[in-house]
Amino acid sequence: MSHPDFLPTGKPVIGERRSFGEPLAGKRLGVGVVGLHEGHTMLVALRASQWCRAAAGCDLSEAKRASALETSPGIFVTDSYEAMLARPDVHIVAIYTPDGLHADQIEAAFRAGKHVLCTKPLVNDLSVAKRLLDAAARSGCRLQVGQSTRFYEPFQRQRELFEAGAFGEIEVIDAHYNHRMDWFYEKSPWSVNATHWAYLGLSHPVDLVRWYLGSIREVHAYGAVSALGRTVGLTKPDAITVNLISTSGRLGRVLGHYGFHELPKARSLIECFLMGSEGTSLARYPDLRLTYHDARGVAIDEDYDHAMAGYYYRHELKGMHYGEFCNLIDSFAVATVGDSPNSPNLREGLETVAVMDAIVRSLESGRPETPLTIPE
Ligand SMILES: NC(=O)c1ccc[n+]([C@@H]2O[C@H](COP(=O)([O-])OP(=O)(O)OC[C@H]3O[C@@H](n4cnc5c(N)ncnc54)[C@H](O)[C@@H]3O)[C@@H](O)[C@H]2O)c1
Repeated sequence: MSHPDFLPTGKPVIGERRSFGEPLAGKRLGVGVVGLHEGHTMLVALRASQWCRAAAGCDLSEAKRASALETSPGIFVTDSYEAMLARPDVHIVAIYTPDGLHADQIEAAFRAGKHVLCTKPLVNDLSVAKRLLDAAARSGCRLQVGQSTRFYEPFQRQRELFEAGAFGEIEVIDAHYNHRMDWFYEKSPWSVNATHWAYLGLSHPVDLVRWYLGSIREVHAYGAVSALGRTVGLTKPDAITVNLISTSGRLGRVLGHYGFHELPKARSLIECFLMGSEGTSLARYPDLRLTYHDARGVAIDEDYDHAMAGYYYRHELKGMHYGEFCNLIDSFAVATVGDSPNSPNLREGLETVAVMDAIVRSLESGRPETPLTIPE
């Protein structure tokens, strides 16, 4: 049980799914999903949505389109992204294609007057930043980065406690995303050399570090190729360790290893360990667990697995992303309809990409590097 001192006022209730309020009649936004592998997860997630509904699905694969229709009967399916963008019942385009396609697909969606939810990594090439900012400004539409980890229960709850002052000011954050990726190389051959683990994998912990520390002044990274990486022909590191310092002088550490042998009894795939002036906490994924000190220094372990497995992974494989994708799309829809800020938005997403870009440069130079400034 958590101490009531630390309960944020009002909603949400611990152990109950988050509520984003009741949409006005007729205000449910239609979502068109492109890339129907992880994007199929979004279709399933939309079945629980309070604010959105599945309207369309786009994939080059006929089998993926057929499976989308089974999950969301009656939606429009197509292999043509342009055809999906032309539909008036699509208000938000959710992009779940390989990393290298995101920039052009975001720009096309803005041109078609659609809001965009783009999965992580937002892009894997910082040179597109100005083009995307200009396209967003011209369209008047907004973008949400699909940083799913932020929207997973332990991380949402950790953030609420942080905002309520439970940990004071964060002095050091230690975040990682470690995951053996043999299955991913088999399923998604593009991941071998068309992107970089500094983007594909580190986007989770780097986003968490930026969420708590804000602007990053400098990064220093080291990398190596693992035995698994060598087997599949990786040319860039899949084991990466990074030290970061924020503009305000606070410290971060990020680890990503995509060839290691997992030990889930000891460490979770994603962890966010916050060391604050007033307290410490650890959020985990895919475990539905948060550990922290209450106001008296008593260690509290909140385990939402029994209460929330149905919502977050529907009693399927832990880590199916259903609940956090639903939280993500509903919070974006509420912000869009209510004209309030959404986060991480396009600029925040590009600032995270700038940190990942500096990490890649540091891996190459062997020296500390400074993230580039995102243009106005
Ligand atoms: N936690 C998360 O939010 C999370 C989890 C996994 C993957 N992802 C991200 O999702 C993206 C896709 O990853 P994945 O694992 O689903 O990859 P995948 O290779 O399994 O699937 C990509 C899909 O996109 C389709 N596709 C490719 N080009 C297309 C085009 N031009 N038009 C329409 N469809 C096209 C492919 O047919 C395929 O079905 C990546 O950027 C990845 O980082 C995010």
